[in-house]
Amino acid sequence: MQISDVIADMLTRIRNANIAKHDTVDVPASKMKIAIGADHGGFELKESIKKHLEEIGGYEIVDYGTYSSESVDYAAIAYKVGNAVTQENILGILCCGTGIGISIAANKVKGVRAACCSDYFSAKLTRQHNDANILCMGGRVVGAGLANELVDVFLNTEFEGGGRHQRRIDQIASIENGEF
Ligand code: RB5
Repeated sequence: MQISDVIADMLTRIRNANIAKHDTVDVPASKMKIAIGADHGGFELKESIKKHLEEIGGYEIVDYGTYSSESVDYAAIAYKVGNAVTQENILGILCCGTGIGISIAANKVKGVRAACCSDYFSAKLTRQHNDANILCMGGRVVGAGLANELVDVFLNTEFEGGGRHQRRIDQIASIENGEF
């Protein structure tokens, strides 16, 4: 081996060692992906929730509309967010005027467990017990401050899993599949 090859080999080893060092120190934690959507009745609340999550950081937010206060039908938005949630196995947030219409529509997508909440306890328990995968809220029901708290607890609470809770989720799936 020539001296130039030895030096080249040494430089490669040093460079790789530096890359490995940076890999373990500098790689950012992966962001939690969230699907979000609203009709005109929930548009302003959706925008405020997005701002809140962006300020906290750590979330990749995919916005499925609507993008203005102009009147739209909530079923189409619920369908898009519902599909994203089930296909990508992520959590979602939906808003309409009451949170009800858009939750009913979302729950028609197979695999969606959408919960319309306007109190902290329900937003937490629907993750722990129901493994809800979409939080629905009403822009004409909850204020921005409360909505942020509901979102935070929903996104940061795990399904308790196993036992009676899993059995009940399985029963819901059986109804959905026409096997109950
Ligand atoms: C739209 O006016 C309103 O009906 C809708 O946002 C929602 O509240 C339906 O449940």
